[in-house]
Amino acid sequence: MNNMQYNSFFLETYGCQMNVYDSELVRSLLIQTGLRETTDWKSADIAFLNTCSIREHAESKVHSRLGNLYAAKRQKPWMLIGVLGCMAQNLKEELLQNKPYVDIILGPDSYRKIPEYLQRHQSQNHIVDTQLSKYEVYEGLFPSREFGTNAWIAISRGCDKFCTFCIVPFTRGRERSRSLESIVKEAKQAVDAGFVEITLLGQNVNSYRSEKVAFPDLLQEVAKVDGIQRIRFTSPHPSDCDDQLIEVIASNPKICNSIHLPLQSGSNRILSRMNRSYSKEEFTRLVEKFRNAMPDIGISTDIIVGFPGETDAEFQETLDVMKTVKFDSAFTFKYSARPGTKASEYTEQLTEAEKGERLERVIQLQKAHTLSQNQKMIGKTVQVLVEKASKKSEFQLMGRTDNNKIVVFDRHHFKSKDMIVLHINDAYGMTLFGDIPEKEKICD
Ligand code: 5AD
Ligand code: SF4
Repeated sequence: MNNMQYNSFFLETYGCQMNVYDSELVRSLLIQTGLRETTDWKSADIAFLNTCSIREHAESKVHSRLGNLYAAKRQKPWMLIGVLGCMAQNLKEELLQNKPYVDIILGPDSYRKIPEYLQRHQSQNHIVDTQLSKYEVYEGLFPSREFGTNAWIAISRGCDKFCTFCIVPFTRGRERSRSLESIVKEAKQAVDAGFVEITLLGQNVNSYRSEKVAFPDLLQEVAKVDGIQRIRFTSPHPSDCDDQLIEVIASNPKICNSIHLPLQSGSNRILSRMNRSYSKEEFTRLVEKFRNAMPDIGISTDIIVGFPGETDAEFQETLDVMKTVKFDSAFTFKYSARPGTKASEYTEQLTEAEKGERLERVIQLQKAHTLSQNQKMIGKTVQVLVEKASKKSEFQLMGRTDNNKIVVFDRHHFKSKDMIVLHINDAYGMTLFGDIPEKEKICD
């Protein structure tokens, strides 16, 4: 294809891992059309923002970046600005009306047509495609990944759960799964490209189903791919975790002993108003099952504070469940009303100050739990997959344990992708510190 006008593109990703994966698909398509990627939006011919609508804050960040891009476009009018992903889906009218300098608006199911749209844009002012598909799973496209240890592979798209706070079922449409063959093929390609860890992705990864294959079977099949050292997945829904899943994770050494179980709230009344389909008792029983099968399993969660109508006592119940479970880590959020969702119509919205105060309490409690859970690792000898240089010192590296904890250690002779054995000797904040076990140091 001939993109005479355009040579370079800038692509920025906001939001979840699914967006990171989608950007890898978009990057691959753009490179195939002969474009070169740049990290400098000021000089790029094309600037695409792959956006997120999950909370208002995520949208604000994009609005402010669009301001920067508009300023750049005034200096070079040929610049093409595109908004991709959830905000495109969610806010297309607003964008068309208030930000007419945005040239292309594409929802999450429209990326395949990007090369065609770039061609067409040369003769057409605005291009808007936010058609959601029941079928698009981007079969046959190979993502262009940033080099590293881990490759993300989307195994399903969309969500049918309709949690009342969540915009995803509206922005990403109905849930659909890819074929087992195409997932295994992509895993093999990722290994051939040098990746050693695979993370399977889906908005509800464990409700995956295709050709009579359920999620635990898929995990086993991916684990058979030669060269994969570790398999992770995110995010499962607690209601779709069955005994087979626990059994498969516990028994297959390649599948990491770590699970993200979004609690959202510890109050049964709030869980029901959120349409979460489990009670706090069912949730804690599930955690117990995981821990009985894998005592060292790392369990992370998502918690929303200040859901409409959440009383002090109900918020306290969330803290109580946290104290019972002691999550290894948590993503914590202030409830953010998303227009179009059911919960945004509930009348008893809390003030920002109330939500802020609750969030702070959740964060402080989780910090204490993260530290105490990490301290349990001190004295253990564990396998660590080396990832990259540590943030703080060029003489140190970072890697992850099987149960998904970050370990920092001296560089020695280690390099990225080595699977090494470390003795954990300290825990600080969210990080573990390790070193080569004494008896092996002699040979170092
Ligand atoms: N407000 C706050 N947090 C939200 N999440 C999803 N929607 C909202 C919202 N409207 C959180 C949930 C979910 C995570 C990905 O984002 O905790 O699990
Ligand atoms: Fe949103 Fe709920 Fe679907 Fe997760 S399961 S994407 S929170 S609707």
